[in-house]
Amino acid sequence: MTSEKRASAFPESFLWGAASAAYQVEGAHDADGKGPSIWDIFSHQPGTTHEGTNGDIAADHYHRFKEDVALMAEAGLKSYRFSISWPRLLPEGRGEANPAGIQFYSELIDELLKHGIKPMITLYHWDLPQALQDIGGWENRETIEAFEHYARLCYEAFGDRVELWSTFNETLIFIGMGYFTGAHPPGLTDPKRGIQACHHVFIAHAKAVRLFRHYQAQGRVPTSGQIGFVNVMQPHDPITDSPEDVAACKMADDLLTHWLYDPVLKGEYPPHILNMAQLTWGVPEFAPEDEDLLKDNICDFIGVNYYKREWVAANPDTDNTKINTTGQKGSGQAFGFKGLFKFVRNPESTYTDWDWEIYPQGLCIGMMRLKERYGDIPFYITENGLGAKDPITDGEVVDDPRIDYLSGHIAAAEDAIKQGIDVRGYYPWSFIDLLSWLNGYQKQYGFVYVDRENGLARKRKKSFFWYQGVIESNGATR
Ligand code: NOJ
Repeated sequence: MTSEKRASAFPESFLWGAASAAYQVEGAHDADGKGPSIWDIFSHQPGTTHEGTNGDIAADHYHRFKEDVALMAEAGLKSYRFSISWPRLLPEGRGEANPAGIQFYSELIDELLKHGIKPMITLYHWDLPQALQDIGGWENRETIEAFEHYARLCYEAFGDRVELWSTFNETLIFIGMGYFTGAHPPGLTDPKRGIQACHHVFIAHAKAVRLFRHYQAQGRVPTSGQIGFVNVMQPHDPITDSPEDVAACKMADDLLTHWLYDPVLKGEYPPHILNMAQLTWGVPEFAPEDEDLLKDNICDFIGVNYYKREWVAANPDTDNTKINTTGQKGSGQAFGFKGLFKFVRNPESTYTDWDWEIYPQGLCIGMMRLKERYGDIPFYITENGLGAKDPITDGEVVDDPRIDYLSGHIAAAEDAIKQGIDVRGYYPWSFIDLLSWLNGYQKQYGFVYVDRENGLARKRKKSFFWYQGVIESNGATR
């Protein structure tokens, strides 16, 4: 484990943060007028998650946020990234707002600000109101209108106090697993429907950005405010130099990276991939206004969630879109598009217990590649972390592997800054142990342990004190 003192390249304004998402941390799934989300319904269906775990209680942050924010303040966090539960605010997804929902987030924001912690809000971290899924979810353009209504409500209720906003979290995952592999709700394996749903997400994003700028012009959200999009950043490398693997890797980049970054950073899809999708599946279908909406509403920043790189190989014959849904430790992922590419394990790499490659330099390399394609855009590292079953020794959570993991990645972030990348913040996932969508509570990420056998008592892990030192020294001690 490293813990040396060095000079820091991080700017004084750097936001040392931590992240979470409503469904994974809040619990109180049906409290105070909240409506059900697709995850409330999905996770209650047998066989969908590890041992039937769900977010009914999660870390009960809804009732304990003051205690949690006090811990954040003690750690020295400068910023906290959290998502708003759409069905807590709008139980039906649209229509009348739930005052108790607004009150909860309002109090959370005030509590953060009281401690000098800057809120960063994610509007959509996967918990679509079930009422909207019932009309077709993201496949129905009415959901776009509902999202704009929801965004408006959030800007009006919280915009006076919140500068940093992002619209969507990880399209690759909620569309990929929701519509290609079926492991997430709505549980479909239908690329055609997925591509169209994904298109509607981009349009909803563009409309929310347009509205944000409109509110900014009216002084109803801070003029210093910024709105962005959060994507998985998963650099791909070919497993061999063979032309087949190199071509497969390029295809993985096009489909899994450029397809999801181009619309929000360039205002259009990669033309050759758009052509391929429209020839193969006849989608995405554009409404007349869509092209301009995308072009006119480029993000202020990009949030990157970096956990791992993927090694890519040609895939002449593997079955289409196969992914592990068992949530079992060590079972790994197999993912591929028949005829295009597949992900493979590199025996020389180091992997986590969930088979995610540990590759800190990938954080810097990934951002360099994005800068090359999209120019000098501001970056926030909106997630990064190690999922592990933490050891408890004499009652203490001694999570040295997490410290090593984060330390290496902070070094890579610093490297990126030295190489001229505009990195403005780092938000490890997660502040507190919370629900892993498919893996339950066994896959821990937090600086704070939640004792589920003991009334959800909070306990600082070794990494908590370590991160406190990182923040205090602005990244010099790690
Ligand atoms: C990314 C997602 O945004 C988050 O919800 C998830 O728990 C982490 N990855 C860890 O897998």
